[in-house]
Amino acid sequence: MKGIILAGGSGTRLAPLTLPTSKQLLPVYDKPMIYYPLSTLMLAGIREVLVITTPHEQEQFKRLLSDGSQWGISISYAIQEKPEGLAQALLIGESFIGTDSVALILGDNIFYGIGMGTALKSMSGREGATVFAYEVTNPQEYGVIEFDTAGKAISIEEKPKSPRSNFVIPGLYFYDNQAVELAKSLTPSARGELEITDLHNLYLSNSQLNVEVLDSTKTWLDTGTIDSLHLAAEGVRKIEKEIGRKINVPEEVSWRLGLISNDQLLQEADKYGKSGYGDYLRALIS
Ligand code: G1P
Repeated sequence: MKGIILAGGSGTRLAPLTLPTSKQLLPVYDKPMIYYPLSTLMLAGIREVLVITTPHEQEQFKRLLSDGSQWGISISYAIQEKPEGLAQALLIGESFIGTDSVALILGDNIFYGIGMGTALKSMSGREGATVFAYEVTNPQEYGVIEFDTAGKAISIEEKPKSPRSNFVIPGLYFYDNQAVELAKSLTPSARGELEITDLHNLYLSNSQLNVEVLDSTKTWLDTGTIDSLHLAAEGVRKIEKEIGRKINVPEEVSWRLGLISNDQLLQEADKYGKSGYGDYLRALIS
């Protein structure tokens, strides 16, 4: 399975923070935002990742993530010229995806939980599309999913004014290879975007949409607004203090999965100088 991180968009809701840099490079507590989705893809067993950025910010992402070999994976880059929708990522990534299945994660979505790796691995390799459902108090800001009394998904609506449930679909989606062709059949919505919700509705109407409710041991944090960004940072800090470890650290995930050696981990730690992040990586070995 291939992995795509969509890190485009102009981040206007976070201006002026996003005037000089990309939203997905902003800090969430102790690390750049994109480290979170990248770690999530790695935990899902993905080793080939395409990072989609705006044209003018690609260099900054390359400076941070390089070609991925330092973490035992491969990272390549592509450009989304304009924010024309999440589903466009599948069209931009068509040749990268080739004949494989693909996981798409939004560069500003944070997932954390005990047993996340196992949960994610069970999502991949299925026929159709597999998405999560997560209960929130502000469903009108997301893609909202409605279930029948038997717990079967029956509708998905993008940012509805009157949501039919409090369950929304967070920005991590697993697709079989049909996704590219299905994405080609989409037309832009009223806001001028190829909506991921429209793609999910196609899978739903083909009875090929699997929905997994994220249980209470898992957390999803969105970082789309100043307040949610702040709350996400606070949430990460709280979790890390509680468990006495950092979360979503790509170097650590890579090292724990055996993709890099102790020596490679130490080399990576040295890149971070005297920061607490570097100290954390060094302490893992001892
Ligand atoms: C997008 C999707 C929405 C999804 C959300 C998750 O919203 O369109 O369905 O629930 O990401 O973060 P947007 O970021 O475009 O507001």
